[in-house]
Amino acid sequence: MRLLFIGDVVGSLGRQMLTDYLPRLKQKYHPQVTIVNGENAAAGRGITEKIYKKFLQDGVDVVTMGNHTWDNKAIFDFIPDAKKMIRPANFPAGTPGKGIVYVKVNAIELAVINLQARSFMVDLDDPFRVGDQLIAEAQKRTPYIFVDFHGETTSEKQAMGWFADGRVSAVVGTHTHVQTNDARILPKGTAYLTDVGMTGPYDGILGMKKGPIIEKFLTALPHRFEVIDEGRGILSACVIDLDKEGHAKKIETIVINDDRPFRE
Ligand SMILES: [Fe+2]
Repeated sequence: MRLLFIGDVVGSLGRQMLTDYLPRLKQKYHPQVTIVNGENAAAGRGITEKIYKKFLQDGVDVVTMGNHTWDNKAIFDFIPDAKKMIRPANFPAGTPGKGIVYVKVNAIELAVINLQARSFMVDLDDPFRVGDQLIAEAQKRTPYIFVDFHGETTSEKQAMGWFADGRVSAVVGTHTHVQTNDARILPKGTAYLTDVGMTGPYDGILGMKKGPIIEKFLTALPHRFEVIDEGRGILSACVIDLDKEGHAKKIETIVINDDRPFRE
C-alpha cells in the first residue's frame, strides 16, 4: 500500500497548491490513499464545510486536524456528518467529531489516527495513552495504521514514534510547518518523520505575513497575524510504502516550491 500525506494546508494559497499539484502527485506516485492536514485551511484558522468538500473533490481521502480545529465555528455544524475528517483523538470525552477513521483500499482497510501533543500546547488528555488504546482498537481490524501527531516539540514527536514503533505503519508530525530532514524507518517497521511541513505561502513566516511578526519580536507588543493570500506557494508532503504486514518499507519526502520545482 502506498500513502501520500500532505502537510498543513494554509489558507487560499495552500488550497490552490493542493488543487494544482495533487493530480500531478497522484500521476507520479500512484498513492492508494491521500491524507491531508487541513486545520489551517480557512485563512489559517480551522476549516469550513465548503473547503472540506473541495478537498474530497480534489481527491483527498482523509482530512486530519489539530489545535486550530475549532477556530472556525462552522465546524460544529458539519463535523458530525464529515465522515472523512478527524480531529485529535485526545480531546476530552464528549468533544464533537472523532479521532480515528478507517479507509477502504480494495479489500483492506487503513486506520488513520489523529493525536495532539501537549508540550507548549493545550493540556489535552494524554496522547500516548489515548493513542495506545486507539492502536489496540485499530489492530483488531487492520495492520495498516497511520498516525498524524500534531505537535510543537521534536522530543514529544520522537517519543511518539518510538512508543508506536512496530505497532503502526507510520507516525508523521504536523503543526510546525517546516519539513524536517529526518525521515526514516524505525527498527520495528514504523515510518517516522518529525514534521511533514506546510502547504501554503512560501514567502511568509509559517504562512503568515512577515511584517507583524517581525514587529512583535521587535516591540513585544501584540500584533494581528494574517495569512498571506497571494504570491508564491509551497507544498510539503511525504510518500510511504507499506508491505503486507503493514510495516513501512520506504518513506520519501516531497517539497515543491520555486526553489525546488516539481518534476513529473
Ligand atoms: Fe497546528
